Amino acid sequence: MPKRAKRKAGERGRRATSPWQMPGKAWKDIAKRKFITVGFAAFVLIIPLAVTSTDGMVKRLGFKRWKRLHRLVYLIATLGVVHFVWRVKSDYRQPLAYAAVLAALLLVRVIDAARARAPRERQA
Ligand code: HEM
Repeated sequence: MPKRAKRKAGERGRRATSPWQMPGKAWKDIAKRKFITVGFAAFVLIIPLAVTSTDGMVKRLGFKRWKRLHRLVYLIATLGVVHFVWRVKSDYRQPLAYAAVLAALLLVRVIDAARARAPRERQA
């Protein structure tokens, strides 16, 4: 086979068009490198949120169920930060800055939830 055609065929062979067509090497990377494992987990988990992020889907699910599903974002964001921290080998400043921002945002949610649970105590 001419060199160019061979290269083309090789490229075609390596191109992944769906997860089950992904080359074994990619799956091995996902399993072997823990930062990739959590990145991939975050990616998979965010798919249902993307799919249900239309007005129509919110209506179909009902707000209560939609909200419960979308709470996954807290886990996903945490996995994203872990992914970044594990990726870095020496200078942890940037991933730790991400971690600090996420921690601050989550803290706001915790405080909000605590306030919502005890509205009368707050007024007293
Ligand atoms: C299959 C899924 C994923 C794979 C294979 C993957 C892979 C990678 C790789 C190889 C890097 C390093 C890039 C570099 O150093 O130039 C990276 C960086 C990063 N990834 Fe992922 N990732 C995935 C999913 C995600 C998801 C879902 C998130 C967010 C929730 C995320 C957040 C990040 C962040 C914040 C960085 C650091 C970016 C930076 O260097 O400024 N990744 N990822």
